[in-house]
Amino acid sequence: MKYDKLIFELSSPGRVGYSLPKPQYPKYSISDLQNHLRTTDAVLPEVSELDCVRHYTNISHKNHGVETGFYPLGSCTMKYNPKINEEIAKTFSFPRLHPYQPVSTIQGALRMYHELQDSLAKISGLSEFTLNSYAGAHGELVGLMIMKQYHHFNKDFMRNKVIIPDSAHGTNPASTTVSGMEVIEIESNDQGMVDLDALKAVLSDEIAGMMLTNPNTLGIFEKDIQEITRLVHEAGGLMYYDGANLNAMLGKVRPGDMGFDIMHINLHKTFSTPHGGGGPGSGPVGVKDFLVKFLPNPTIKKLDDYYYISNEADAIGQISGFFGNYLVELRAYSYILNLGKENLMNVGPYSVLNANYIREKLRKNYELPIQDFCMHEVVFDGLKHNPNEIRTLDVAKRLLDYGMHAPTIYFPLLFHQSIMIEPTETESLQTIDHFIETMNQIAEEAKTDPDTLRNAPLTTPISRTDEVFAAKQMIFTYKDYLEYIERGE
Ligand SMILES: Cc1ncc(COP(=O)(O)O)c(C=O)c1O
Repeated sequence: MKYDKLIFELSSPGRVGYSLPKPQYPKYSISDLQNHLRTTDAVLPEVSELDCVRHYTNISHKNHGVETGFYPLGSCTMKYNPKINEEIAKTFSFPRLHPYQPVSTIQGALRMYHELQDSLAKISGLSEFTLNSYAGAHGELVGLMIMKQYHHFNKDFMRNKVIIPDSAHGTNPASTTVSGMEVIEIESNDQGMVDLDALKAVLSDEIAGMMLTNPNTLGIFEKDIQEITRLVHEAGGLMYYDGANLNAMLGKVRPGDMGFDIMHINLHKTFSTPHGGGGPGSGPVGVKDFLVKFLPNPTIKKLDDYYYISNEADAIGQISGFFGNYLVELRAYSYILNLGKENLMNVGPYSVLNANYIREKLRKNYELPIQDFCMHEVVFDGLKHNPNEIRTLDVAKRLLDYGMHAPTIYFPLLFHQSIMIEPTETESLQTIDHFIETMNQIAEEAKTDPDTLRNAPLTTPISRTDEVFAAKQMIFTYKDYLEYIERGE
């Protein structure tokens, strides 16, 4: 039997993959339930357990993950997720806890939350964190709600505008809009950094704050960061730090010390919890002292050695069911404890070293628009010697043939053919050298065998897809699929 079929195509009438025990409670006969029984059979694939297991195992092999190969997806920090974190998240009684259990029975769980938020506060130079937000973008929204609440608390209702550089990740303007505030975009200078004159020109008493990631999405450290935070504070605004790029600075530079008042951290990036495929993630939000009272409810407090749950009057409200993705937080806590202070301080330097090594080794074949050293990720602007007009998309697709995930492409939007490579600190020199060799080989193919690149990938289960069609006409069910086949598109 060929196992690259859809599971419905494996279906054989009457075949099952389960065996149910005999009912234990005979006093409920089927006739009592008659009105509740469905009258037609559910449309489910009829397969044996083995067929089902093979089917899903086979599908899982078609996927690319950080455990199958190199995954240099810029702005995503696809580092290895150590197995010890998984062990800890599944052992002990953590997975079986219920948030409504009496507080006296979950002291250990509350302690973990409290200690993790404390560690994040020390690492980032802020006062307190909430772990309740589910992702980076969710953290941004929570941080902006805190910013807004702060101004409203001070009866400063005019402040409704948030300054965002044009290099920012798309979630920054999106979160600002969702928070009910207005975006003011400012242009970057020719070094890819915030243009101080452009910043000064938009400062006014309508500014609620500024959102910035540092290093920015070009992988460049904003050298004028202290001047930027000074200017925004002087104008009465708050500084928001998008912590998605914290990996580059981990243990070396703290957002709180740079002058930021609010930030989020993507635990699924910097602190090695798994991510991709839509979650579950975690985007803790930290603030300076004067904003702590606005952090969302519920919060976890400590009195002597006793941990308790508290709801604060000035909080922005509740932003998630309970305490966020608890088992994800537990993985991050395990990562921090396992690495310890000394090793955490090596994360940033090694991730920066790896990115700069790639930068140097690829610059002869790929256009390097920014000459300065990069931080944890490097951005190229397509191929350098390109007589056949091979696009970044073709290079990215060809990498899949060599068993590597493509870097982020066409982002940041500042360049037409952006290729953003973030190797992280967890890759070996051999892996990184192999990637460099492959990228240089692809640059050679672009000159000698352009059609192979234009048609790549050639070795993956699915070759080049129509990405616009795939995004606009999603096929989620077998029924959708049959209709699609019938339409003959
Ligand atoms: C710079 C930056 N900010 C924010 C986000 C949003 O984070 P999340 O995907 O966890 O919502 C990302 C995600 O890639 C990012 O790269």
